Amino acid sequence: PDNSLLILPGDGIGPEVMAEVRKVIDWFGDKRGIALDVSEDLVGGAAYDAHGTPLTDATMAKAQEVDAVLLGAVGGPKYDELDFSVKPERGLLRLRKEMDLYANIRPAQCFDALADFSSLKREIVAGLDIVIVRELTSGIYFGEPRGIIDDNEGGRIGVNTQRYTTNEIRRVARSAFELAKRRGNKVCSMEKANVMESGILWREEVQWVHDNEYPEVELSHMYADAGAMQLCRNPKQFDVIVTDNLFGDLLSDAAAMLTGSLGMLPSASLGAPMANGRPKAMYEPVHGSAPDIAGQGKANPCACILSLAMALRYSFDLGDEATRLEKAVEKVLADGVRTADLMQAGERDPATTAQMGDAVIAALDAS
Ligand code: NAI
Ligand code: MG
Repeated sequence: PDNSLLILPGDGIGPEVMAEVRKVIDWFGDKRGIALDVSEDLVGGAAYDAHGTPLTDATMAKAQEVDAVLLGAVGGPKYDELDFSVKPERGLLRLRKEMDLYANIRPAQCFDALADFSSLKREIVAGLDIVIVRELTSGIYFGEPRGIIDDNEGGRIGVNTQRYTTNEIRRVARSAFELAKRRGNKVCSMEKANVMESGILWREEVQWVHDNEYPEVELSHMYADAGAMQLCRNPKQFDVIVTDNLFGDLLSDAAAMLTGSLGMLPSASLGAPMANGRPKAMYEPVHGSAPDIAGQGKANPCACILSLAMALRYSFDLGDEATRLEKAVEKVLADGVRTADLMQAGERDPATTAQMGDAVIAALDAS
């Protein structure tokens, strides 16, 4: 396989963290013989500055062809006054829409050394490693009818429609089962089938995909409100959670707080399988372009490095190498190397972005 990867560093700290990812990619090439076919292009404000659009058609076409896209971050104060049609975020939205990335993957992984940053007690989260698969392109945020309409008595009614088709549920369920096969082989599906028709269909269709296509993966169902409770009470019981757009929005933000800093959180957005069987895929840190620290060497590159690890596992079928990279990050943290965002008040001498990247390389060398 070509293992083609399109890198889109973007704006602000995007290019800074991506420079450290480049070191990691070079290391895997030199030391592990893993040749990724890497190309790089502009997105967001950087693309607007060069071409007057946050994503050119040529870049869009390339994103459709490669095995995976790795994006840094887009946006910044310089672009705040631009017309909505050319705002940096529009580049990102176009990628998601035209690649039809319907499964948003948000891991909640809590490295032991950072357990004290969690909103929960150390023993509940230390060593946590779960992923939430959120349906991203349908459900109540898109369903029709929607709008604010007048009632007959001079008042108003706000209307949104939760609507899911069989196909929409089945395809995101498949994404979840495929991930589970590369991990702990366990999926928990969350909805509210007790009070929602769409929840009943969700439960039936996820069960159908399980019974017909993935009987070897363990499947359970949980009401989403109970799921929220269990995420806080005992999150380590889960491996992969699959849920709809609305519940996934809430549950993935809550899960993120189990793990600590924004600078540590990777993500992926997956679409339909391509001709080679791999899913359309874009990987990106959860954080934005962080204009408040951009250009100062303060950014934590780990979220972007861990996004590369996700690409290795889910797009390039290099799960062992992904684990090697995650273990290297874990070792760096255990050794006490910290960018400023990972320090408690009063701690001094943070590592720079480059020092953090170099420490990951040193840990890889020692692996
Ligand atoms: P942000 O995620 O960029 O920053 C929030 C806070 O976290 C800031 O204090 C920042 O310094 C810190 N932070 C974020 N990433 C960090 C890292 N890797 N290391 C250390 N500290 C880090 O969100 P904010 O400030 O709301 O948005 C800034 C810009 O980024 C805006 O233009 C926004 O539209 C854009 N944005 C882009 C996203 C993307 O490209 N996917 C996502 C979120 C925001
Ligand atoms: Mg949210």
